[in-house]
Amino acid sequence: MPAKIIYGKEISAQIRVELKERVDRLKARGVTPGLGVVLVGEDPASVSYVTAKAKGAEEIGMFEETIRLLPTSTEEEVLATVDRLNRDPRFNGILVQLPLPKWVNPDKVISFISVEKDVDGFHPINVGKLLRGEPCAIPCTPYGVVQMLIRSGYSPEGKHVVICGRSNLVGKPLAALLVQKKKGANATVTICHTGTKDLPSFTKQADILVAAMGAPRVITAGMIREGCVVIDVGVNRVPDPASPKGYRLVGDCDFDGMLKKAEAITPVPGGVGPMTVTMLLLNTVEAAERKAN
Ligand code: GUN
Repeated sequence: MPAKIIYGKEISAQIRVELKERVDRLKARGVTPGLGVVLVGEDPASVSYVTAKAKGAEEIGMFEETIRLLPTSTEEEVLATVDRLNRDPRFNGILVQLPLPKWVNPDKVISFISVEKDVDGFHPINVGKLLRGEPCAIPCTPYGVVQMLIRSGYSPEGKHVVICGRSNLVGKPLAALLVQKKKGANATVTICHTGTKDLPSFTKQADILVAAMGAPRVITAGMIREGCVVIDVGVNRVPDPASPKGYRLVGDCDFDGMLKKAEAITPVPGGVGPMTVTMLLLNTVEAAERKAN
């Protein structure tokens, strides 16, 4: 049987219906959840992410403002913008789109966002809370991966999840989330990375494989076992003369090759991507609810 395809768009749509109801309830109490997005420069991928975030926020009735700063902006200018958003009570959530220009220190900027408004979950205090299993904003991509698994009937509980990639944005927080002694987590987790010797010997042990390496189609069908559930976080541009843009998007996994072998697999695009935006909206609504209560 061909693999079930897990569409993030469909799961996102369900969650956004639930979120709109929560936003409506907040509005009835006189509170409109607000998201402030800071975009420095015009990197096309960043512009498209930020546009999706703004559109998603507006669709569920949230207040959203994108502050676009010049590509030549200094660190002081970025910090001053974050300071303004920190102080402005209309914003429950602040997101500074990464990457930043190379002269702006992302760690400094992220640490400057108030912990309560850090809807990316990147602030060191939120990172620490996540590791300790305390309530906090959960980074959006790992949160989206876990929600996709649970809502498509593949709970990670008791499963061996092999994560390929150890980034601070995906691999490490996802591992911290999955090992928690909680419903919807409680998995056995292996993290593989560029220092891993004999990668296939690990990926073949996975009940659930999460690919987050950022390299096009490097995980092939021969590297997974029959019945594996594959979550592909990668978004890579590959040249495609047939496409009007001259490129197309592919994941870190060989999607077509895995269709016959996997139990379920996420597509790229239309898989994890839409979930990331939805979890950002969820974190912002939760921040507004916390403040309102
Ligand atoms: N750039 C790519 N993904 C992300 C993300 O999840 N948050 C932020 N702030 N920037 C990103």
